[in-house]
Amino acid sequence: MSVDWPALRAAATAAARQAYAPYSGLRVGAAGQASDGRIIVGCNVENASFGLTLCAECGLVGALHASAPADQDASLEAVAVVAGDGEPLLPCGRCRQLLLEAGGGSLLVDTPAGPVELKLLLPAAFTKADLAQRRAPSRRDRS
Ligand code: THU
Repeated sequence: MSVDWPALRAAATAAARQAYAPYSGLRVGAAGQASDGRIIVGCNVENASFGLTLCAECGLVGALHASAPADQDASLEAVAVVAGDGEPLLPCGRCRQLLLEAGGGSLLVDTPAGPVELKLLLPAAFTKADLAQRRAPSRRDRS
């Protein structure tokens, strides 16, 4: 699937205008292209209890799932995250992990140097495969 990066960056920039960031003053917008071509956006939402702040990518991933057609897997192919100035902003560590679950290691993420695969930004990641392989057997499975 081809990615219209200028359109994705423009959608992220528009989303950044919707940000609620009275504490940091850093507006962030995220736009993602879903595997069915839909463009989904999110913005950061801060809180007087600072630790509750939601990154723009959290809103994006929430909207990806909430807006997916019932019979369809929701996944991302490409993501642009920008600050209020419209320039790319690299996702924080937690959001890299969040994006990994939503798009896999080959998800394209915009950077100041152009789009790169997420696996480059989050190498040697913990994934749901590790969880499945390494968790202790449930009580029921033990003899
Ligand atoms: N922020 C994001 O929205 N995404 C990131 O990946 C990095 C940080 C927001 C959270 C907070 O509202 C502000 O930027 C300052 O950290």
